[in-house]
Amino acid sequence: MNDILNVAVIGCGYWGPNLIRNFSSLQGCRVKRVCDVDEKRLEHMKRLYPAVEPTGNVDDLVHDKEIDAVVVATPVHLHYDLGMRSLLAGKHTFIEKPMAPSATQCNELVELARKKKLTLMVGHTFIYSTPVRRIKEIVDSGEIGEIQYISSRRLNLGLFQKDINVAWDLAPHDISIILYLLGRPPVSINCQGKAHVNRDIEDVTNMSLNFDNGGFAIIHSSWLDPNKVREMVIVGSKKMIVYNDNEPLEKIKIFDKRVEAPPHYDTFAEFQYSYHYGDAYIPYLKQVEPLKVETQHFLDCIRSGSKPETSGLDGLRVVQILEASSQSLKRGGAVVNIDRKLGMAELPA
Ligand SMILES: NC(=O)c1ccc[n+]([C@@H]2O[C@H](COP(=O)([O-])OP(=O)(O)OC[C@H]3O[C@@H](n4cnc5c(N)ncnc54)[C@H](O)[C@@H]3O)[C@@H](O)[C@H]2O)c1
Repeated sequence: MNDILNVAVIGCGYWGPNLIRNFSSLQGCRVKRVCDVDEKRLEHMKRLYPAVEPTGNVDDLVHDKEIDAVVVATPVHLHYDLGMRSLLAGKHTFIEKPMAPSATQCNELVELARKKKLTLMVGHTFIYSTPVRRIKEIVDSGEIGEIQYISSRRLNLGLFQKDINVAWDLAPHDISIILYLLGRPPVSINCQGKAHVNRDIEDVTNMSLNFDNGGFAIIHSSWLDPNKVREMVIVGSKKMIVYNDNEPLEKIKIFDKRVEAPPHYDTFAEFQYSYHYGDAYIPYLKQVEPLKVETQHFLDCIRSGSKPETSGLDGLRVVQILEASSQSLKRGGAVVNIDRKLGMAELPA
């Protein structure tokens, strides 16, 4: 492998340019080619990055011998096909979230990458963000006690997608953070929701994740809300964390609050004593662009051959939950179990 890694990016719409900008800024990396079916987007990319070679044809870049890695940032329905073509051509592959339209397809991508000894990474960007990493440290230190439940809200007005519902669009972020914090996949899912604007495409959903240790998480996603909300609350047996990603600096607050049921109480006044109110604090968080950390991590994994923190298997786990949420939606919110064996072949014995 050369000192310089040559990267190609497919999809130059809203998100692709952020990936191109970050890969271009990294040492030892060159964005050699960009691909889009929209010529105007290609012209725009060429204006911003005169050295890149634009193309409208995916085959041009997957069969370019100089390309080491391919980044897929297109609409979700193309992720599986483009990911397969990239891996089959022997390229390390980065696929944006959600990894593919079905868990079976994710599994095929995982298997192929493993067989060909290629790095397969998924764009679960929040796992590379300072606040989420800090929350993970706090949780793992035991400071907040046992996690009792996590509640997440990701709401705003639009952007309405045409091929996926709001859960597939917004909840991958919440799900990936929740699995990262809890370190285990759920055993079952319930999801309710409704389509108001486009028939058959839910614009508001409410998902519950149930874990084998009794853990519980709720995710509310909406494109039909007057407020932009990006909030996650992690309730521990000792303390509680509020993570507000809309805050410019003070994104995490840790509250020394809890409720302990007293062993015996005779009056309501006595019951009040079981509420604990202590101090709150706001940790300092270094400002780093998560996408910069994420793109650097992809290059590091290619060079070292190590497994990405957001590997194909992590992408599969998130898609399994999304798929189960769609099944549950169709069945009016019924419980749908998760097949935890899918993808297990990748785990060490
Ligand atoms: N990680 C994050 O935080 C984050 C944020 C936003 C979007 N995303 C993900 O990025 C992906 C792209 O989302 P977006 O908002 O940029 O979508 P978009 O619709 O704005 O852009 C997609 C681009 O892909 C191009 N395209 C379509 N078919 C193509 C093909 N066959 N070959 C080449 N190009 C093709 C389109 O012309 C368009 O320019 C999605 O998977 C989305 O979920 C991730």
